[in-house]
Amino acid sequence: MFVPVEKADNKEDNYRLLLEYLPYYINRTDPWYTTLANAAAVLRYFIDEVNWIGFYIRQDQMLYLGPFQGLAACTQIQIGHGVCGQAAQQKSTLRVDDVHAFDGHITCDAASESEIVLPIMKDETLFGVLDIDAPVKNRFEAVDQVFLEKVVALLVDFL
Ligand code: SME
Repeated sequence: MFVPVEKADNKEDNYRLLLEYLPYYINRTDPWYTTLANAAAVLRYFIDEVNWIGFYIRQDQMLYLGPFQGLAACTQIQIGHGVCGQAAQQKSTLRVDDVHAFDGHITCDAASESEIVLPIMKDETLFGVLDIDAPVKNRFEAVDQVFLEKVVALLVDFL
């Protein structure tokens, strides 16, 4: 059961709290979809100024919608398409300051203005991606990337 933790007043400390508390809500004996379902909820709690947080899971050359928090979203993204598919193809994090300026961006929630997508690598293969959308431009800075890469590293260990 989620015990609401008092949040900090700055995003760095909230990421620190997220990294401290996330392990209490995930278990190595659970299947990946259970782990990522709780992870999506915990991320949503600790990360401010975002409108969509979720996971896309790779199967062959496709990404399929996984656990998320936010409005219903597109269920399939081809590897190489959209921000998610390009991050998956490049196996590197993509930070997009203005989604309207990103060639091939796929709109799921019309409120989204900026986005970050991190690849999730498990045993040197692409498991999926973590996708976070924000309703403001330039929401994701280098510091967000640093902490979110730590979150992904923590999660991989539980998948
Ligand atoms: N914007 C993403 C699609 C997924 S939604 O944002 C939830 C993209 O361009 O891949």
